[in-house]
Amino acid sequence: MKELRVGMIGYGFMGRAHSNAFRRVNNFFDLDRQVVMKAACGRNEAKVRDFAARWGYESVETDWRKLVERDDIDLVDICAPNDQHLDMAIAAAKAGKMILCEKPLARDGKEGEKMVKAVEKAGVPNMVWYNYRRIPAVTLAKQLIDQGRLGKIFHYRAKFLQDWTISPDLPQGGAGLWRLDAKVAGSGVTGDLLAHCIDTALWLNGSIAKVNAMTETFVKERKHNLTGKVEKVGIDDACAFLARFGNGSLATFESTRYARGHKALYTLEINGEHASIAWDLHDLHRLQYFDHRDEGRLRGWRSIHVTDSDHPYMDKWWVPGLAIGYEHSFVHQVADFLEGVAQGRAVAPTFRDALETQYVCDAVLKSARTDKWEKVKAVK
Ligand SMILES: NC(=O)c1ccc[n+]([C@@H]2O[C@H](COP(=O)([O-])OP(=O)(O)OC[C@H]3O[C@@H](n4cnc5c(N)ncnc54)[C@H](O)[C@@H]3O)[C@@H](O)[C@H]2O)c1
Repeated sequence: MKELRVGMIGYGFMGRAHSNAFRRVNNFFDLDRQVVMKAACGRNEAKVRDFAARWGYESVETDWRKLVERDDIDLVDICAPNDQHLDMAIAAAKAGKMILCEKPLARDGKEGEKMVKAVEKAGVPNMVWYNYRRIPAVTLAKQLIDQGRLGKIFHYRAKFLQDWTISPDLPQGGAGLWRLDAKVAGSGVTGDLLAHCIDTALWLNGSIAKVNAMTETFVKERKHNLTGKVEKVGIDDACAFLARFGNGSLATFESTRYARGHKALYTLEINGEHASIAWDLHDLHRLQYFDHRDEGRLRGWRSIHVTDSDHPYMDKWWVPGLAIGYEHSFVHQVADFLEGVAQGRAVAPTFRDALETQYVCDAVLKSARTDKWEKVKAVK
């Protein structure tokens, strides 16, 4: 079998999630490429060696530019913080590598445009890790919508709630806490959490025409881990926005890291003319479905346990009734990508698809500043 040699940059949360996917994909999916975990890259040599040994990478690099230039790497996987995506992706594209990049694509649309240009000029396969599309219950929702079962869509509602930054003593910056540093992250919950909700929404319900947003930074100053000084906080701690989709439907989106009691409550609900669907990350293998066309006496919300072999991806795993989890969405994404590579076709979300999400985020943040409805830039 032809090999696909992976070079991964960053060995944090996503470095682990992706490594797990690379290790398992050939065990469960019939693919024409064998993934080889060729090199892991991180700036701390001892730590990256430890990581490579644990996950089975053949070698390590401490300078990502060296990794990108290596002849024995086919695919560069970017799992570094958001401010690194631009340079890494452009260098990888110039070196002719396939690229998988973590979300959000970039810190803003301008950076994203440069990245799209680079991969399209180089003609390299590319994809962004908006992994929630590939949770089987969410993929099933897409199938039901595409079959027209919901009819005309009236409403889209999404939330992503967490509670881990409430303490004013939590510093910003540096390992793990780069998400609180606007220079590194680009934005707060908008780029980190709402970007996921927006990507799923664009996929399920089409483009967003305009938005009206409000944001808040509840803790205005935090100590910065890298400078040791108390610095202004530049991220949005919470964001809520209204949106109007191109198909006329109305939407509300909300995200915060100040919803005490919620850890990663990503929920979505879509109401159509005939039917509604609802999904909750905390119960990720279930899809709630209500169909008004059911016989009246039996009409009600169905809780579909998305674990049967005719459900998306589920024939690749265990027997009907046995659930899979968060990490499997990454395995599915690698499998789909490799299938696309074998067939010579792009697999969504590409960098270009992810640029649309970036434009929505830009419009949301602009609207929060101007206090007005803002149009979303169209991807050309
Ligand atoms: N798809 C998802 O659900 C999801 C979830 C979490 C994070 N993310 C995204 O993944 C990316 C990484 O987030 P994370 O949570 O894994 O962060 P993390 O802080 O856990 O890990 C980041 C890694 O990048 C490394 N790194 C930073 N700068 C580097 C450089 N110049 N060269 C080499 N390595 C460098 C760090 O040492 C660390 O190993 C971010 O873009 C984030 O938005 C996506």
